[in-house]
Amino acid sequence: MKFFVDTADVAEITDLAATGLLDGVTTNPSLVAKSGRNFLEVIKEICSLVEGPVSAEVTAIEHRQMVAEGRKLATLAPNVCVKLPLTIDGLKACKELTDDGIQVNVTLCFSAAQALLAAKAGATFISPFVGRLDDIGHDGMALIAEIVEIYRNYDQLRTEVLVASVRTPGHVITAARLGADVATLPPAVIRSLFNHPLTDKGLAAFLKDWEGTGQKILD
Ligand code: G3P
Repeated sequence: MKFFVDTADVAEITDLAATGLLDGVTTNPSLVAKSGRNFLEVIKEICSLVEGPVSAEVTAIEHRQMVAEGRKLATLAPNVCVKLPLTIDGLKACKELTDDGIQVNVTLCFSAAQALLAAKAGATFISPFVGRLDDIGHDGMALIAEIVEIYRNYDQLRTEVLVASVRTPGHVITAARLGADVATLPPAVIRSLFNHPLTDKGLAAFLKDWEGTGQKILD
């Protein structure tokens, strides 16, 4: 399972990339606004920090303008993945850009029907938003199960399921159990995956006992 980080914060990306566990980055207009950076500059910089796909979202809502914006974003770096909203115009643009060989992440997916359409439009990734569904009393992970099941029924659908709007480590584990291809995680959720109180307690005990031996591994 691939882990992307969902942020436009270059310091966070640099820090997490150093773990060797980061497979890509997703951004959206809200995250870019939060970074306070120039959009094109920050995407270019992020693309130089990771080898994997870096999602950069168009802001046009009309198909021709979406394609034009997508083509411009794709010139920034070879690992740019153009992010398009799941609308009729977005899917028309998806078809056109993917036919050109440009990676596309179709975002703001909230139903299995939308995910099926995105796959038929050739999307590289589909981004169902699990946390936002949970927020309104729906079951975000049930949507992931549906999409994974549907995509598995058809070999010709090559779209990867990218679980987005992830809020908890539980979302990540359930996504992995369901066989989702990717999860994009806020930096705090990635960091929380490393933690367990018994790891901290066990390590403290090992180090205390080791200190008692007076030995060193390195001179
Ligand atoms: O980048 C898209 C998605 O991950 C947004 O998450 O927390 O704003 O619902 P959130």
